[in-house]
Amino acid sequence: MTAPKKLFIKTYGCQMNVYDSERMAEALAGYEQTNAPEEADMILLNTCHIREKAAEKVYSELGRYKGLKADKPDLKIGVAGCVAQAEGAEIMRRQPMVDLVVGPQSYHRLPEMEARTQTGEKALDTDFPEEDKFERLKSRPKASRGPTAFLTVQEGCDKFCAFCVVPYTRGAEVSRPAARILDEARDLVERGVREITLLGQNVNAYHGAGPDGSDYTLARLIWDLDKVDGLERIRFTTSHPNDMTDDLIEAHGTCSKLMPYLHLPVQSGSDRILKRMNRSHTAESYLRLIERIRAARPDILMSGDFIVGFPEETEADFQATLDLVEAVQYGYAYSFKYSSRPGTPAAERAEVDAAEADDRLQRLQALITRQQRSIQESMVGRTVNVLFEKPGRLEGQMVGKSEYLHAVHVADPTLKTGEIAPIRIVSSGANSLAGTRA
Ligand code: SAH
Ligand code: SF4
Ligand code: F3S
Repeated sequence: MTAPKKLFIKTYGCQMNVYDSERMAEALAGYEQTNAPEEADMILLNTCHIREKAAEKVYSELGRYKGLKADKPDLKIGVAGCVAQAEGAEIMRRQPMVDLVVGPQSYHRLPEMEARTQTGEKALDTDFPEEDKFERLKSRPKASRGPTAFLTVQEGCDKFCAFCVVPYTRGAEVSRPAARILDEARDLVERGVREITLLGQNVNAYHGAGPDGSDYTLARLIWDLDKVDGLERIRFTTSHPNDMTDDLIEAHGTCSKLMPYLHLPVQSGSDRILKRMNRSHTAESYLRLIERIRAARPDILMSGDFIVGFPEETEADFQATLDLVEAVQYGYAYSFKYSSRPGTPAAERAEVDAAEADDRLQRLQALITRQQRSIQESMVGRTVNVLFEKPGRLEGQMVGKSEYLHAVHVADPTLKTGEIAPIRIVSSGANSLAGTRA
């Protein structure tokens, strides 16, 4: 028997890329994964195109592998993900050592593409094929794994926010049939998973076929997952405010496996800017929505995304964003400086002065950090349920996540990976909480 070849995958971008990287590693059956690029027979970069910096990282990373390829001519180098989709053959023009370029909708064709590279051919596939890639991307049976997992239920986006590349790189919104998702969830649970995060670029727009063939909603899917024995926790991300249906809001109040955490990006607090972003919600409608969600689940921890320095954003627009953040009180929030992306409508517009945008980003991040800290500190003295994921850095310490997604450290060697235990929080650090068994 020949030793299996080695595959090194580096993943950038969102959680869907993390999920996709797992599936690609499983699809390349002749390979086993390595953490060391210098040992690899194939290097695969799973890339992100969301901001300019993210996309440029790919080329600097490829530059680093030039020497490896010179020493080992059989080494194959592949680019997957959203940069592959957006730039296609251009990647091979800029970096001729790249052997393979595969877009997110063609991952099921990867084994066949890899075989072609073995004969010295270049392989490029950025189609949006008709066939269901998930059906063809079978997982390797029964390999055990950690207690948390991602599961893609929906992919692509039809919203076309004026700044965003996702509708172009991931394509139109597609939902997987509920029965397939339930099978995959059961398989994950058999392999040791206790918490599943359902993924989609617009996960709450999920409308896959239900078991009886009718269109399902995300809430109905969650209720079916709720019945899977051994699955203890359900999360989902990322949602759009316009797709928060009544049944999903209600599920947050009534489904005990659905965790009290909701990532609901708003992008801006200014209606003028929201309109220019093509977001089709207002600051007011977003705040009303959160009121309804909190009425269903008062302790829910809210999270969001913001863009500052969108074209034409004035100081008054930015102030409206700060006001919205004050009104919501986020447990977590992610903020980004606007980055012009080729091919998107906003790329045509005049940009805000870079120093001004930097200054706004700093002010927003300072406010968000204060909110995050104070919500984290409010956990001290409370008892939360923690799902333990792995040993901590200190001897005898375990780390896990509370219902609210806070990282919690506990010094207790009797705790096991995969265990859910009530923990009394005793202190709050910069990015995590510490506690003891309640
Ligand atoms: N709905 C998607 C959003 C993906 S992008 C999801 O599944 O997560 C994540 C965040 O990146 C967006 O919410 C937005 O805040 C930010 N973003 C997107 N395009 C951007 C751009 N051109 N410049 C800066 N930030 C951007
Ligand atoms: Fe991008 Fe907007 Fe779609 Fe989110 S909803 S993926 S920000 S276009
Ligand atoms: Fe990036 Fe594509 Fe995800 S652009 S954020 S990897 S959908």
